[in-house]
Amino acid sequence: MKKKNVALGLWLCAALMSAGCARKNAQSASPVASGFGAAVVESSGGKQIATAGTTLPQPLVVQVNDEQGAAVAGALVQFYGPAGTSFDPPQMLTDSSGQATTNVMLGSMAGRYQLMATTLTKAHKTVDLKMEEIALDYQRAWGQTLDDKYCSRCHSPESTPERVSNYDNLAVKPHPFTEGDTLNKISDADLLAIISHGGPALNKSPLMPPYGYTLSKAEMQALIAYIRTISDPPYQTSGMVYAKK
Ligand code: HEC
Repeated sequence: MKKKNVALGLWLCAALMSAGCARKNAQSASPVASGFGAAVVESSGGKQIATAGTTLPQPLVVQVNDEQGAAVAGALVQFYGPAGTSFDPPQMLTDSSGQATTNVMLGSMAGRYQLMATTLTKAHKTVDLKMEEIALDYQRAWGQTLDDKYCSRCHSPESTPERVSNYDNLAVKPHPFTEGDTLNKISDADLLAIISHGGPALNKSPLMPPYGYTLSKAEMQALIAYIRTISDPPYQTSGMVYAKK
């Protein structure tokens, strides 16, 4: 595996012929592990949503634990993603709390990105952790902006510094758009109907307002594309981009 990395580095150098290559090669020299764990677990940073080709809002934080579940310091963690994904740094030793933190830039392709963090056990076996992030294309990023502007004050129970959630005041609770168990069962046509004509269009509460006069058809379609992309479990299993080791 290491050989392959070196070969790829050389290939990149040949292909790029730039000063940046020297730095890249220096970085890819693995730090030497002083600790070995039994598992990598996620601390935070999975299931984020960002525009394709941009850095995720939160860093990815993983922890290496031993058989007893205690944190291991000095363990080597390496991060992998689908083509186009980059990690800063791509590998590091865990700190005194057993954690490794990296910033992730997703590739330019929209979809679900499967990322992976690996570490070595004492027996030199590789153990890994898979995580998922979502990259939005132009239409879906537009849908996210519209959601922030029109929908999330009711559909998201969480308040942000810019927006106080109205969720707790609603007699009938809407679903966060990530709730695939509910939203995946509603057809595209019904989504369009409820967004356009309001709750009563689907015999639901009038607390869900009609947006047919506020939003264009293209805007409603962008919202639907966005809702389909962020649902958990996924609306469709296609569009998954796997990490390559
Ligand atoms: C004023 C609060 C409010 C706003 C703003 C709002 N909704 Fe709703 N929405 C509701 C409520 C309440 C329901 C649940 C109705 C029911 O179950 O009877 C709902 C239901 C829905 C549903 C059916 C699935 C579910 O969550 O139960 C969809 C889809 C939906 N809304 C989309 C949207 C979209 C898209 C926007 C933004 C363009 C939006 N809503 C804005 C209150 C709101």
